[in-house]
Amino acid sequence: MLRNLYALTFFFFASTKAWSSTNNQYVRQQNGITWRVCPQELHELDNSNRTFECGTLSVPLDYTNNSSSQRINLEIIRVPATKEPRKGSIFFNFGGPGGDGLTNMAGSASNIQPITGGYHDLISWNPRGTGNTLSFSCYENSTDRALADVALHNPLANATADGSALGRAFAEGKLFADQCKQMQNATGEYVGTAFTIRDMFRILDNLDEEGRLQYWGMSYGTVLGATALSMFPDRIYRAVLDGVQNSHEYYHTFGDPEMYTDFDVTWNEFLKACMENPDTCALSRHAPSAGELAAKMDHMLDDLKLNPFSAGHSIIDYNLVRRNFFADIYNPVSYSRFATTLEAVLVRNVTALSALLAEDHAFEVPTMAETLPAVRCSDKFPRSETLGPVNVELEDRLYKTSARFGDNPSFTMSACAQWGFKAKERYNGQFYAKTNFPALFIGNTWDPVTPLKSAYNMSEGFEGSVVLQHNGHGHMTFAQPSSCTSKYIADYFVNGTLPEPGTVCEPDAPLFRKPVT
Ligand SMILES: *[C@@H]1O[C@H](CO)[C@@H](O)[C@H](O)[C@H]1NC(C)=O
Ligand SMILES: *[C@@H]1O[C@H](CO)[C@@H](O)[C@H](O)[C@H]1NC(C)=O
Ligand SMILES: *[C@@H]1O[C@H](CO)[C@@H](O)[C@H](O)[C@H]1NC(C)=O
Ligand SMILES: *[C@@H]1O[C@H](CO)[C@@H](O)[C@H](O)[C@H]1NC(C)=O
Ligand SMILES: *[C@@H]1O[C@H](CO)[C@@H](O)[C@H](O)[C@H]1NC(C)=O
Ligand SMILES: *[C@@H]1O[C@H](CO)[C@@H](O)[C@H](O)[C@H]1NC(C)=O
Ligand SMILES: *[C@@H]1O[C@H](CO)[C@@H](O)[C@H](O)[C@H]1NC(C)=O
Ligand SMILES: *[C@@H]1O[C@H](CO)[C@@H](O)[C@H](O)[C@H]1NC(C)=O
Ligand SMILES: *[C@@H]1O[C@H](CO)[C@@H](O)[C@H](O)[C@H]1NC(C)=O
Repeated sequence: MLRNLYALTFFFFASTKAWSSTNNQYVRQQNGITWRVCPQELHELDNSNRTFECGTLSVPLDYTNNSSSQRINLEIIRVPATKEPRKGSIFFNFGGPGGDGLTNMAGSASNIQPITGGYHDLISWNPRGTGNTLSFSCYENSTDRALADVALHNPLANATADGSALGRAFAEGKLFADQCKQMQNATGEYVGTAFTIRDMFRILDNLDEEGRLQYWGMSYGTVLGATALSMFPDRIYRAVLDGVQNSHEYYHTFGDPEMYTDFDVTWNEFLKACMENPDTCALSRHAPSAGELAAKMDHMLDDLKLNPFSAGHSIIDYNLVRRNFFADIYNPVSYSRFATTLEAVLVRNVTALSALLAEDHAFEVPTMAETLPAVRCSDKFPRSETLGPVNVELEDRLYKTSARFGDNPSFTMSACAQWGFKAKERYNGQFYAKTNFPALFIGNTWDPVTPLKSAYNMSEGFEGSVVLQHNGHGHMTFAQPSSCTSKYIADYFVNGTLPEPGTVCEPDAPLFRKPVT
């Protein structure tokens, strides 16, 4: 079920398939929350036979306008504790932004709950803009969306040597932003992190838990977490921020350059581990050393700019392969398969590539789903009607942070720069606070998008917080599980103990091996 966890991260999108309550026999009223048994399709994501509760809670549409009486319904899921005594609820945000809280919770509960110790109910919800909660869609229907996708190539800035790809990305960003603006102009500005945090506390206020927040945020969920810690420090009882993003940059840059700090080193480590595991890494036979393999991969990418080729019904070009890099380096469990795909591109094995393309997830091009920019772009402060400032950030920050992958966010930066909404409430404060209870930050040593550096950066502002270093690969601790990390998380939630500063946890299984389950 871990697939569901990966599906929530930065450029992936969990299905936002609408669900409807199908079981009306069981109803439990808890203050303002009406709980029912979750629909079957959510239970099917779980491999235990437990019953999950799904609830709804009415909250204000606009927290900044007391004269507005409009309300929206939040969709909530609750996974019951497995052990006594119960120690309250832990709230989860799985990232994105735009990840569907209900499917991600149902799909990962049986993995996550033991890690929390089992004494807590697990709660998640669909943040505004996702699921049925103020759904954010930029198209009338899937036909319109498919037609629009024809124009949205999402080119990476360096796909051409003359900069024309970036020009194209910026124009596409405008096309997309305008389309979303037109479709969502009635409610678009009510989507955003600050309102989502207020929603989260509304849910908590209805749970009979003295308003004390216990929280685990992953990836973008760490921005939500750090913002909550800053807005409501007195209400923080426990907070695990796993796969930490630099929140300063989330709000105040176009493309969050610090995110890519460890991208190149993670890529190099992937190639190194490949060379050390010739039996499970097909790519290893194409070079005598990791360094030479890296050079070969660089050359392969450059070559694809001018010499793309076709396989099946697809054009294998620089954009496609690079975007695939980005998705696959997240997920060490599929490193062998990733290497096999790269080998097929390297030797231009059209047969192998056609077969891979026909399979579910190979070359899954992350679509520019609408929920991510709905939150992320609306939260951001910098805007620009011209390409100049975006290009400056690419050249001054992103290319210097990651020589190999720094042009990755070209399109999202372009869309955000020209975004048609500003979240009605955007958090514009500092990330410094003395929380009621200190937070636990966790960073992976080789995380391609949420570097350890960002965990230290954010921890700096929160008094008493500690950084736990998870000495693994991929995005967030789940990517390469560690019973050591899990034990620290359980101790923190159950006993309120933090690891000593400087603690490092090793993953259970090495790369290119089957993970311990
Ligand atoms: C779930 O319930 C079914 C039928 O009641 C049973 O066969 C199965 O073993 C149960 N599975 C678990 C994980 O408890
Ligand atoms: C709305 O009402 C609340 C509670 O009465 C008050 O604290 C808040 O300042 C008001 N907000 C505005 C924008 O008037
Ligand atoms: C506040 O809500 C009222 C009633 O819906 C509306 O007329 C007014 O325009 C809103 N004010 C702002 C600033 O959105
Ligand atoms: C999709 O929406 C458009 C309006 O934007 C409409 O013209 C078209 O008929 C719709 N297509 C379908 C299949 O509903
Ligand atoms: C949204 O845009 C449409 C079309 O441009 C317009 O008809 C509608 O009045 C707008 N709604 C709001 C709330 O601005
Ligand atoms: C191409 O891939 C196919 C299927 O994986 C494999 O059987 C074949 O040996 C490969 N050919 C070359 C030239 O690598
Ligand atoms: C993109 O091009 C710039 C300028 O030519 C270069 O500095 C940078 O390393 C390249 N980045 C990528 C990811 O190709
Ligand atoms: C954290 O990151 C921000 C934005 O990049 C930077 O301005 C700030 O100096 C950093 N703080 C620390 C303590 O490193
Ligand atoms: C919490 O403390 C108890 C008592 O010291 C200990 O037995 C337990 O292992 C600790 N951790 C968890 C996750 O229960």
